[in-house]
Amino acid sequence: MNRPTAFQKEFFPATAMPDNAWWSALWPDPDGIVRTLGIEAGMTVVDLCCGAGYFTAPLAKSVRGNVYALDIDPEMLSQARSEVARRGASVTEWFCADARDIAELIPHEIDYVLIANTFHGVPDKTALAEGVAQVLRPGGRFAIVNWHQIAREQTTVLDKPRGPKTEMRMSPEQVRAVVEPAGFQLAGLVELPPYHYGAIFRKP
Ligand SMILES: C[S@@+](CC[C@H](N)C(=O)[O-])C[C@H]1O[C@@H](n2cnc3c(N)ncnc32)[C@H](O)[C@@H]1O
Repeated sequence: MNRPTAFQKEFFPATAMPDNAWWSALWPDPDGIVRTLGIEAGMTVVDLCCGAGYFTAPLAKSVRGNVYALDIDPEMLSQARSEVARRGASVTEWFCADARDIAELIPHEIDYVLIANTFHGVPDKTALAEGVAQVLRPGGRFAIVNWHQIAREQTTVLDKPRGPKTEMRMSPEQVRAVVEPAGFQLAGLVELPPYHYGAIFRKP
């Protein structure tokens, strides 16, 4: 992929890793989320923008270490490594990199790419999806876990409004409109209560 140097190694807006106290209150069963998304043993998976490893660890357990995990923030990767080790799991390879470089970093034989709680902040969403499409095998899947498009004041956790600003939130239809032009087909939508959905796309 060619892109201007100025776009290299930049954090996406409004994607800072949340505080663990309310994150774990919001997601009490991350292993269940991984199952609901259809990720299972035998797959090779990418956790794109893995943060502190809240989903990386259950992913790694589920697919027995066949995970590539990537985040731009070295401190997040350090926390994710600790979390994966704490769960007695392992990861094939860690990348401290910009997600937009996925196609240059990760082998092109992946079964499943997950991006959770980050896509809303990606400036060029179709371009990112094009990069994801390059690493997926035919039939591979790309799941985007997003906050529902409801007002931030209504998405309270531990008594406070949480998540990205209301105007940054995307409906599943809006996600579909920017991801399908990259060569994907929407394969399913799953509810991830109380405030999230997963949009699962398939590469034909
Ligand atoms: C809100 S956190 C979500 C982490 C994790 N996916 C989860 O749901 O627990 C978003 C993560 O995206 C990372 N990030 C932001 N911009 C990035 C970029 N351009 N490339 C790779 N990672 C990025 C941040 O460092 C942060 O760890």
